Amino acid sequence: GKQGFEHFMLKEIYEQGDVIERILNHYLDINGRQLNTGLQPGQSAAIEALNIVACGTSYYAACTARYWLESIAGIPTDTDLASEFRYRNRPMSSHTSNLFISQSGETADTLAALRYAKAIGCPCLSMNNVPTSTMALESDTILPTLAGPEIGVASTKAFMAQLTVLLLLSIDCARHNGSMDFDQELSLIKALHELPSLFHRQLLTQEPIIRLAQMMATSDHALFIGRGQAWPLAQEGALKLKEISYIHAEAYAAGELKHGPIALVDEQMPVVVIAPPDELQPKTLSNLREVASRGGKIILIADSQAIEASSEFITAAIPMPQVDPVLFPLLYTLPLQLLAYHVAKEKGLDIDKPRNLAKSVTVE
Ligand code: M6R
Repeated sequence: GKQGFEHFMLKEIYEQGDVIERILNHYLDINGRQLNTGLQPGQSAAIEALNIVACGTSYYAACTARYWLESIAGIPTDTDLASEFRYRNRPMSSHTSNLFISQSGETADTLAALRYAKAIGCPCLSMNNVPTSTMALESDTILPTLAGPEIGVASTKAFMAQLTVLLLLSIDCARHNGSMDFDQELSLIKALHELPSLFHRQLLTQEPIIRLAQMMATSDHALFIGRGQAWPLAQEGALKLKEISYIHAEAYAAGELKHGPIALVDEQMPVVVIAPPDELQPKTLSNLREVASRGGKIILIADSQAIEASSEFITAAIPMPQVDPVLFPLLYTLPLQLLAYHVAKEKGLDIDKPRNLAKSVTVE
């Protein structure tokens, strides 16, 4: 049941801290010193390049993880939508490693993509939330996401679980190919262990998000922008909003704005700017000023310092606590989910069962 929550989606958002803990308990050995991804050490060391294939929210998890795999583990990573991957005759040898991500493990296009790669003889890993799913049964290696059953059609805790396991996979590959030292690894794992309590605190301070949701509920459109890992997060935030609130939301890499989309900006346009304090933040904040000078209503999700520094340009802000920069994607997902949830709630919509959507898409 909903255990006292008004919607499954909200319950599942609240469960995310526990999900991270469950994943850490499963993937770390008893001393917290060895990662147990189910991959043999030789296998993770042998991943020279990775191809990740998925749909929807699972695809955005893949796009987010690409940055970890490349920057932490030095593994060149491609991401593909399953519905495109199948038909674009990508040259692949039997040495290309593929990872298929699917919460349900039943998504028709992702399953077909898995079968396509298997037929070529490629090593196929899959990351699923349902251990008995067709994809789990047909893969060579399974990375379980352990989020528990997800009922809300809008994926929340499964996305968080995918990100967590993808980060652990990146760390595992980095260890085995020598691109991360042990101290870095320990400090990341420690920061991951502290994340659930940060989530807990964020969930206690939803007031600014609720006020913001009341403002956004009257909009017909919204833009989401970010750079680096904040770009796929912007895409995920926009997808969440359109799925359950039916507001037309688009995400852009912040640097792309002036190549076209900025023409959309006027006084009616809310622009959600995701700007964690990383080396790209100054650039994102300068894009923010460009949008503000066109009249756009800026909603800034960032650390308090950046919010302070941009105060004259913004309409609203969601202040975020400090955390190891590697973990920004996990932390900054939470306000995006809550924003979509509260907007849909404000509009009185059927949050757990949005129109036209099914929990798993088993036709092409
Ligand atoms: O079960 P899957 O992860 O394969 O599902 C993929 C998409 O259908 C799914 O993520 C969809 O986009 C969600 N409704 C997003 O909230």
